[in-house]
Amino acid sequence: MRVGIIGSGYVGLVTAACLADSGNHVTAVDSDPRKIEALRSGHCPFFEPGLAELVSSNVAAHRLRFTIDIAEAVQGARVAFLAVGTPPKPDGAADLSFIESAAVGVARALTGPCVVVDKSTVPVGTGARLEKLIAANTEHPCPVVSNPEFLKEGTALNDFFRPDRVVIGAEDQEAGDVVAELHEPFVRNNKPILRMSRAAAELTKYAANAYLATRISFINEIAEICERLDVNINEVRRGMGSDARIGHHFMYPGLGYGGSCFPKDVQALASFGRAAEADCNLLEAVHRRNLAQRENMVRCIRGRLGENLSGKRLAVWGLAFKPETDDVREAPALTIIEALLEAGAEVAVHDPRAMESARAIFGRRLEYHIDPYDALPNADALLIMTEWMEFRSPDFDRIRAALKQPLIFDGRNLYSIKTIARYGFEYHSMGRPPVERVGT
Ligand SMILES: NC(=O)c1ccc[n+]([C@@H]2O[C@H](COP(=O)([O-])OP(=O)(O)OC[C@H]3O[C@@H](n4cnc5c(N)ncnc54)[C@H](O)[C@@H]3O)[C@@H](O)[C@H]2O)c1
Repeated sequence: MRVGIIGSGYVGLVTAACLADSGNHVTAVDSDPRKIEALRSGHCPFFEPGLAELVSSNVAAHRLRFTIDIAEAVQGARVAFLAVGTPPKPDGAADLSFIESAAVGVARALTGPCVVVDKSTVPVGTGARLEKLIAANTEHPCPVVSNPEFLKEGTALNDFFRPDRVVIGAEDQEAGDVVAELHEPFVRNNKPILRMSRAAAELTKYAANAYLATRISFINEIAEICERLDVNINEVRRGMGSDARIGHHFMYPGLGYGGSCFPKDVQALASFGRAAEADCNLLEAVHRRNLAQRENMVRCIRGRLGENLSGKRLAVWGLAFKPETDDVREAPALTIIEALLEAGAEVAVHDPRAMESARAIFGRRLEYHIDPYDALPNADALLIMTEWMEFRSPDFDRIRAALKQPLIFDGRNLYSIKTIARYGFEYHSMGRPPVERVGT
């Protein structure tokens, strides 16, 4: 099938590469010429495991190409995917200006009938509005189908090739069938293609993200109660999660969720829920708890090292909002580092992938180290912000020798209390009693 993809970011590029890999002829467009230039010269504009290889093999097979001209992407396409950003406005509502302008761009470029598929996360009713907007700008029939994307950064290819489910929300059944046909190669393992109304598909995406965010905020709230009552959250977490009705997923206390989806989607859902006069207290509390995690970490560090951190040096391991990505959008590390800098601290950082993304934000205000151990000398403490695999079994003797004092603040609970005590660290983690330093 000939497919056009509007937006070549995380979702657009992954969709383009995976659909090309299953035999379709895909043209992806982006309004950022630097992104297209990078893709054309064989560079992936962001890190996602396996994606650069998948893009280059499909470009070489002439099934995938990139353009800055929307007409080139859309002409002759049976399906056009909208995969542009829907960032939050200052009040938390989704900013739909990018998707509306992409929809108008598609409509004006059409040379025949086309199914427009919305992969971006959009409030209920957006598909219906886009359909009207498109109809006002073209004579060609152009139904809009909602096909929300559930991929996770870091495992995006596996998520696209082996989804738990594919959600297709269509008012026009034939248009829905075309979208289902495109996804059939990826559900041969009996995973369902779920057909529903367009509005239900739009809401499904928000509800799924908000539910996962709620689990994270829930366990974080329980973790704070644990800290105050001197209880170990891990014991409680395991006790709870072993209940088959509850399970262990998304029940790890930490600095809270970040990234380009959960924070904005929880707020956008609350915003359009409130606009529909629904009571959204739970969603608002989930968001507030998420911010509190970051504030609590800063409070804990300043409580231990002093309100004024000038003259203090801190080493930070982890900047990305989660492992296996270079994405720092809404990453807890950014907020925490900003607060530490404001309090006067000097901050030396390491991240296996996200250093350039962080440099684009902090510039020379941080010290960047390619080797994590180079960030440690003379630091007053080590802070763990992202649960990268390579931080999980570090050389504790080397950390201890390099730091000014053996002090770790662990925002991801990477280490067992027993191990850390054996190495003689003072250790502050999330929802577990602090470990006092023993020995010299
Ligand atoms: N990143 C994720 O993990 C993820 C997962 C599921 C759903 N989503 C949703 O998918 C959507 C896209 O997210 P993303 O992370 O891929 O965003 P992104 O910012 O990485 O990519 C969006 C791209 O669209 C381009 N763009 C904007 N307007 C355009 C236009 N008119 N024409 C052509 N290109 C245009 C931008 O330049 C950018 O490259 C959002 O609604 C997001 O909520 C994201």
